[in-house]
Amino acid sequence: MAAVPAPLALAAASAGDRAVAVLRQATSVRAVNEGFAHQAVEDAVGRERARIARDLHDGLATELAGAISLFKLYLEKHNTQDETLKNVFDIMEGSLKRVRESLADLRPAAISPDGLVGDLRHQADEFARLYGIRVELSTSGAEDILPAQHREVVAQVVREALTNVRRHSGSAICRVKMAFAARPFLIEVSDEGRGFAAAGPVGYGLMGMRERAAGIGGRLEVVSTEGRGTTVFLFGPN
Ligand SMILES: Nc1ncnc2c1ncn2[C@@H]1O[C@H](COP(=O)(O)OP(=O)(O)OP(=O)(O)O)[C@@H](O)[C@H]1O
Ligand SMILES: [Mg+2]
Repeated sequence: MAAVPAPLALAAASAGDRAVAVLRQATSVRAVNEGFAHQAVEDAVGRERARIARDLHDGLATELAGAISLFKLYLEKHNTQDETLKNVFDIMEGSLKRVRESLADLRPAAISPDGLVGDLRHQADEFARLYGIRVELSTSGAEDILPAQHREVVAQVVREALTNVRRHSGSAICRVKMAFAARPFLIEVSDEGRGFAAAGPVGYGLMGMRERAAGIGGRLEVVSTEGRGTTVFLFGPN
């Protein structure tokens, strides 16, 4: 495919055209630099998802919530037992719930302007202050090496792993190692707590971490020994 000049491709206005423009732009960039193109696509996809989430929130979700509250007032005022009206009301409430779920899926976990590592430092301070758990952070390489989507998955996985350490391990220490510069990148969250059996219960936390890792082409491994502790490994895509 012939390379399309980026400014021309980006001039497209509608959402559909914009998506095509993003792909075309990525294609042209890939011709120059394969690695950079991958990151450009990830970042563009992230921005586009955030834009769709904003549109959904400010448009459909807000209007639907407004219509539902008016409808509720109407039903209360007229004290109606009309089944059809009640069904319509239930459908609208169901739709709003699904829009909100989509919003939660579309919105990346917020990484503050302090960055992933900065946010984790705050969380480490909190763990020490509130729960008496010492969280040691170590990094190799800068987090900016990872595309935004990968950083978000790292943030989500580390947060859930830390929550599990706090809730289940009984450990007073937790080590978070982040090898951003490794290929593939590798994140480890380990504790020295009670551990759990391999055939132990799997909740939404572990399941969600596995799905998020798989979503970026990476994988999650959990090594746990009863009485010795647990380590969660997040490997980036190859
Ligand atoms: N660091 C840990 N130390 C000890 N046990 C753990 C640790 N992490 C997970 N577990 C065990 O694995 C189980 C599953 O964890 P998972 O995060 O999937 O679910 P959960 O924390 O119980 O609930 P939630 O769905 O709210 O996350 C936990 O209930 C716990 O028994
Ligand atoms: Mg959990």
